[in-house]
Amino acid sequence: MTSPPPLDRDLAPPAADLGRRRFFRAFAGELIQTAATVAGAAQALQRASSEAASAILDPQGAAERLDPGLATGTGATTGPAGFRTAFREGDGVLHLIDQRRLPDALVEYPCSSAGEVAFAIREMIVRGAPAIGAAAAIGLALSAEKIRSARPYARRATLRGGANALINARPTAVNLRWAVERLMARYTEIGELSEDGEAIAAAMRAEADSIVMEATTDHGRLANFGLEVLPTPEDRPVRVLTHCNTGPLACGQFGTALGVVQAAHFAERPIHVWVDETRPYLQGARLTTWELAQAGVPHTLIPDVAAGHLMARGEVDVILVGADRVAANGDTANKVGTYTLAVLAARHGIPFFVCAPTSSVDLATADGSAIVIEERKPEEVLEIRGVRIAPPGTQVRNPAFDVTPAELISGIITEEGVIRAPFEPGLRDATEGARARWAAARGSGTAHTASGSN
Ligand code: MRU
Repeated sequence: MTSPPPLDRDLAPPAADLGRRRFFRAFAGELIQTAATVAGAAQALQRASSEAASAILDPQGAAERLDPGLATGTGATTGPAGFRTAFREGDGVLHLIDQRRLPDALVEYPCSSAGEVAFAIREMIVRGAPAIGAAAAIGLALSAEKIRSARPYARRATLRGGANALINARPTAVNLRWAVERLMARYTEIGELSEDGEAIAAAMRAEADSIVMEATTDHGRLANFGLEVLPTPEDRPVRVLTHCNTGPLACGQFGTALGVVQAAHFAERPIHVWVDETRPYLQGARLTTWELAQAGVPHTLIPDVAAGHLMARGEVDVILVGADRVAANGDTANKVGTYTLAVLAARHGIPFFVCAPTSSVDLATADGSAIVIEERKPEEVLEIRGVRIAPPGTQVRNPAFDVTPAELISGIITEEGVIRAPFEPGLRDATEGARARWAAARGSGTAHTASGSN
């Protein structure tokens, strides 16, 4: 017999959280949805979502101190400052924060087609599962706009080529395929061989905007649900351990695991974060520390290998990580090192939560054994920021992700609620719930979703 849907979404929120909930609802729901109803919603939406994110993640107004066009590292000891989401758009150009340059410099990298965005994704200029999905969608929309006067067959070849380049740029994060398939499904639906390139471009643009808008609301909802399971020690801050980078840079909007952390900080819940440095690419050391510093969240950087020591000493209350792909049974691919943390958490009885929007859920993949794990270049292991640390000729294996089996996961925090084992019915419900919610918001009764992914 099937057990009831394992979603915690009906849990009553603690009274103290009502103010924060109202705040979230104000900006993540109403504000964004209002923006989406006006003409020219695309630009307004991205401005609004970026500003709304700044309001919560940067309450002291650090964002206002940032030159909106460009801010570069000064070489000063403090480094560049100012909260930014992973991308912004202006004048037909997608400006990505060049994440390779952080924390030393905050500079942008311009892209104006699917091919250019695919390059930026491959090179890790933009990275993080939800962020690469959103960037890919915008890249494809930009290509459709550029070729709106092209002949239908030429347009189809260009769009299909761009979509393939994007999907193949990085294989593990399912959000990438999910976003590209959504746009291509829209393209097919509108009539791919139609002469009306304007209508095709407009439809693909609207779909890309929907992806960005939905992420804004959904990541805010996810953070809310995360707060409900965050431990609340009476006499000290809750000590969260996190891995890799799951903040606005990785997600385009508030972030997933780091969204929960930052929402807790905003709600004035005492919190301290252990940040894994995340060898070899150092997303934790370079990006998570930078984002937490911008948001004013107390944190301490640790070598990945110190995590077990801290757990054994009782210095970790909960582990929050993101996800690049959640299989139907709950097995989760995330940045390499996550599995090790989950095993250690089980050994020490520490709750281990995966924070994943349903865009990271891949119901077409039965379990983690079918998830393709990206293997990256040896230099990332042989060198640290250009300085060689191993003898020349040393053989290297560099898997970028690992799979944490569902049995080691305490819960999966989604925008529809916290899912507990057995995960599959909850993941299916959550995915359907998110689709239905957005279909209702669009008033169409049908969500535009691609068939392949979730
Ligand atoms: O290789 P990256 O930096 O693109 O890895 C993705 C990640 O940031 C993490 O695995 C993360 O936990 C999932 S994305 C919120």
